[in-house]
Amino acid sequence: MIRHILRSLRQRGVRFVFMYIRNAVWFDLRHGTNTAFRREKSVQAVNDPAFKDGLLYVASLDFVIKETISRALQILSSACGPVKFIDVGCGKGKTITYGEKYFSDDFKEFVGIEYDHNLVGLCEANLAKVKAIKTSVLAESGENFANYLEAPSVVYFYNSFQGETFRRAFTAALDKSFVLIYVDPVLADDLVELGYVEAYAKNGQYSAEQWKIFKSPGLAGQ
Ligand SMILES: C[S@@+](CC[C@H](N)C(=O)[O-])C[C@H]1O[C@@H](n2cnc3c(N)ncnc32)[C@H](O)[C@@H]1O
Repeated sequence: MIRHILRSLRQRGVRFVFMYIRNAVWFDLRHGTNTAFRREKSVQAVNDPAFKDGLLYVASLDFVIKETISRALQILSSACGPVKFIDVGCGKGKTITYGEKYFSDDFKEFVGIEYDHNLVGLCEANLAKVKAIKTSVLAESGENFANYLEAPSVVYFYNSFQGETFRRAFTAALDKSFVLIYVDPVLADDLVELGYVEAYAKNGQYSAEQWKIFKSPGLAGQ
């Protein structure tokens, strides 16, 4: 932990480390979970063709999860019926654990999808720590997330994968009705090209605090 903090201090400076302790490490200390620290791609062992397009595990920051979910719910406010939440590439489960703790009344169900079986195990242990009752984790490629969508849904995507996997996943979901939270939205232009409609954007100094919210073409057309 100390090594990780010293490396971050060297690479990103004091403001980032302070923000990280407050919005990632502190969550774990309060809840007895283990979500805050990254898992480098070089130590991941994943037997899935989508691995070539996947990115490492880094945890979402508390304030980003809070702001993005609140905003997504506002955008969906006219939709009727209970809402499903899906985190595509949930890793150790920071966002779904946070969702279960602080947005439980707003969703009927939380689902995490993660292709790294080691991370799925850690995610399940984290969910047990907060006595999660509405959340489940699927050990498979997030490329298939469209299969799990029910209208209305909120999909959370923290730059989990890029390349062909990204294009295939979001093409398969075109006619579904959902609000997409895209953190570190490096391929936002590709989504617009596919017909996703940007509804909100927030900039920040670090990629972890930049995000955009989109309506799926299926939702925007309603
Ligand atoms: C930036 S982390 C996201 C962390 C999490 N969503 C959160 O908010 O804290 C990206 C995660 O996506 C996973 N991932 C990458 N490609 C994937 C794929 N095709 N299917 C499922 N998980 C994937 C990685 O293993 C990693 O855990």
